[in-house]
Amino acid sequence: LLSQIGPDAHMRMILRKQPGQRTADDLEIIYEELLHIKALSHLSTTVSTDSVTFIIHCRPYTVALFNQGEEGTSWYIILKGSVNVVIYGKGVVCTLHEGDDFGKLALVNDAPRAASIVLREDNCHFLRVDKEDFNRILKDVEANTVRLKEHYQDVLVLEKSPSSNSTTSSSHYKYTVMSGTPEKILEHFLEMMRLDSHLNESDPALDDFVLMHCVFIPNSQLCPVLMASQGSEQERLDYTLNNKRRVIRLVLQWASVHGDHLQEEDASLAFLEEFFVSVSDDARVIPALKYQLPELEKIVKNTSDDARSSQQKHKVLLRQFSMGDEKLQKRQAIKSNDEILFKVYCSDHTYTTIRVPMAASVREVISAVADKLGSAEDLLLVNLSSAGDKVVLKPNDISVFSTLSINGRLFVCPGDQLDSLMPLPEQEGPSTGSLGSFELMSSKDLAYQMTLYDWELFHCVHEHELIYYTFGRQNFKKTTANMDLFLRRFNEIQLWVITEICLCAQLSKRVQLLKKFIKIAAHCKEYKNLNSFFAIIMGMSNPAVSRLSQTWEKLPSKFKKFYSEFESLMDPSRNHRAYRLTVAKLDPPIIPFMPLLIKDMTFTHDGNKTFIDSLVNFEKMRMIANTVRIVRHCRSLPFSAEPSQTSKNHPDVRSYVRQLTVIDNQRTLSQFSHRLEPRRT
Ligand code: CMP
Repeated sequence: LLSQIGPDAHMRMILRKQPGQRTADDLEIIYEELLHIKALSHLSTTVSTDSVTFIIHCRPYTVALFNQGEEGTSWYIILKGSVNVVIYGKGVVCTLHEGDDFGKLALVNDAPRAASIVLREDNCHFLRVDKEDFNRILKDVEANTVRLKEHYQDVLVLEKSPSSNSTTSSSHYKYTVMSGTPEKILEHFLEMMRLDSHLNESDPALDDFVLMHCVFIPNSQLCPVLMASQGSEQERLDYTLNNKRRVIRLVLQWASVHGDHLQEEDASLAFLEEFFVSVSDDARVIPALKYQLPELEKIVKNTSDDARSSQQKHKVLLRQFSMGDEKLQKRQAIKSNDEILFKVYCSDHTYTTIRVPMAASVREVISAVADKLGSAEDLLLVNLSSAGDKVVLKPNDISVFSTLSINGRLFVCPGDQLDSLMPLPEQEGPSTGSLGSFELMSSKDLAYQMTLYDWELFHCVHEHELIYYTFGRQNFKKTTANMDLFLRRFNEIQLWVITEICLCAQLSKRVQLLKKFIKIAAHCKEYKNLNSFFAIIMGMSNPAVSRLSQTWEKLPSKFKKFYSEFESLMDPSRNHRAYRLTVAKLDPPIIPFMPLLIKDMTFTHDGNKTFIDSLVNFEKMRMIANTVRIVRHCRSLPFSAEPSQTSKNHPDVRSYVRQLTVIDNQRTLSQFSHRLEPRRT
């Protein structure tokens, strides 16, 4: 390379001229030479070589070309010599040589310099391209990946992508993190954080990190890193100050996204307290830190007070979710440390009640049962459905109580008794419909009370539960019970619709029922409760219901029209386009069609690796965080619709919708359906 571009005297002379004074021949020569440089080999023919200025540094090697934290003004290419990349707290992380370039990041992202550049030898030669020219050139450049190395290993891979707000940057591109080590990703986002923006204006990149870090760096590892990244006093003071302020901001956001969950983690609580003490100490020396203290103090105090009071009180005790009375009280979010009383059945249909933490593993549940039974045999824990289907639960799975099918029960048995397990009679569900009780309730009241209940369930779901659910709760040792119960409700409503129709012997009553369900669905849609709306419509499109042609024939055409309109929203073609367009038009509060959001996240999870060459695949994290933010958006305003004026039977409607009993055996439902309207021959 040197021989090609080299400190060739002629070339150097041309480059030293004022850009305006260069002749066409000069430009030709510069351009020819530039194309041989690795960093420039992708320049297109339209680039003006005038934008390239040559500078020679003959200063002693300890002098920095620029410092970490400074504003970026130029991009550099090394023509001769080498430089060290130095990061506060880490020292020299790598060395760059002839042909390498540096200093792009700060220019493109409008961020402070991510590292200091120190000359390693006398007489280094660089090509320097100033910011404005650089941005002009960059538009024509295709190479769009930046790989940052530390000690010969990639630590951060960034890719150019269209920037969402181009107000701050003259370029319409930004370098976005594609993958990296957890620590470098954190370091990068901290550096990119804008302290001038308001705290409430969320920074999407930071938010991605705070939401998703549990996947690749759990709190137990993150807290020490945060404690350490406050920096030491030896660094430059202005840098230290900004850095501390950034870390405080991150901690505030971290604490608010984790919310109640922090109370359950002693190490995280201890970190918050320690962090607060450390910031208070710093604030005595650096008065500028005082502004953030009150907010930090508030969050630390609230979290530790709540934790203390919930430890003093007896642990929350939950009962089997299928028991009705619990559903009548206003729900509180279920936490991993809560304890649950749960019935586990044996093959002879006797049962033991165990009391274990919500997040107990299957192994722990089995040993709790074995203790009670005084059994030394190897037992299996089985989810037995009403249809007799058996799922043997894996020993490592956790928090399984909320994952059973609607009428499913937990059984234990030795391996050789598995085949003889029979469902309990109570698992069959009701033998008569409940039309008698809800026929007199108005459809609007029913939809309203259903929506209130759905909101309670939805409200309890922590954002992180979506992530635990997607990546497998056993990997986090955290319960997803609130999410499970919300998804279960979807199935319950669907089965309620099918059960009621299949248990309704009289044709005219069945037509009434269809009308009623269509009306309830329409009201749910008005309340923007798309979850129950879909559950009802899916119930009606279940084969056991849709095959009842005599019933459907008698349905007034007005209702048929509504139904087919609703059904078309369920059309899965083009990735559920019909539904997605509809929700996009709605303002919060919205209860989204949860199974679809879950499907989106699972799809992203299955289709993308979490780690690429041992770096965190941050693009995947961003995609999942985007779905989590849809949920956040839906809940950003509270549900506040008023109950209808006319309703006199509130309490009845309320308890009715919370205590639905259903048949969850598709074969039974199908048999009932055929009995109602035998197949025409
Ligand atoms: P910029 O942030 O503009 O200024 C410092 C430059 O150092 C940075 O762009 C990169 O081009 C370069 N660099 C090389 N390796 C690293 C690294 N490991 N971390 C940060 N910056 C690095």
